[in-house]
Amino acid sequence: MSEPSWIDVLDDAALQEGQMAAAYPLGVNVVLARVGGAVYAVSGKCAHMACPLFAGKLEGYTITCPCHDWRFDVRTGAFLDAPELRLPVYPTRSEAGRLSIQLA
Ligand code: FES
Repeated sequence: MSEPSWIDVLDDAALQEGQMAAAYPLGVNVVLARVGGAVYAVSGKCAHMACPLFAGKLEGYTITCPCHDWRFDVRTGAFLDAPELRLPVYPTRSEAGRLSIQLA
């Protein structure tokens, strides 16, 4: 199988340290976060009732959902109270000042 293609999502400079950004590559709801200089991408829909995680809080590597406070690790997508429950996680890269992700 061939490697999934990289999909351009955002200007690298638009995502500051400790911030999140929403993106919708190919119509998929994704939230990006930069923590410790690295960029992570997870599903933007909460695993509980699909609230938009972009509207939540980012503290360290933890995203807290704005609706019912479920917390996820942005590095792994794991729900902190039950790590077997996970958000989809997407690889990211920065190239020529642009961030891109792989969806597959
Ligand atoms: S929808 Fe996210 S915690 Fe309920």
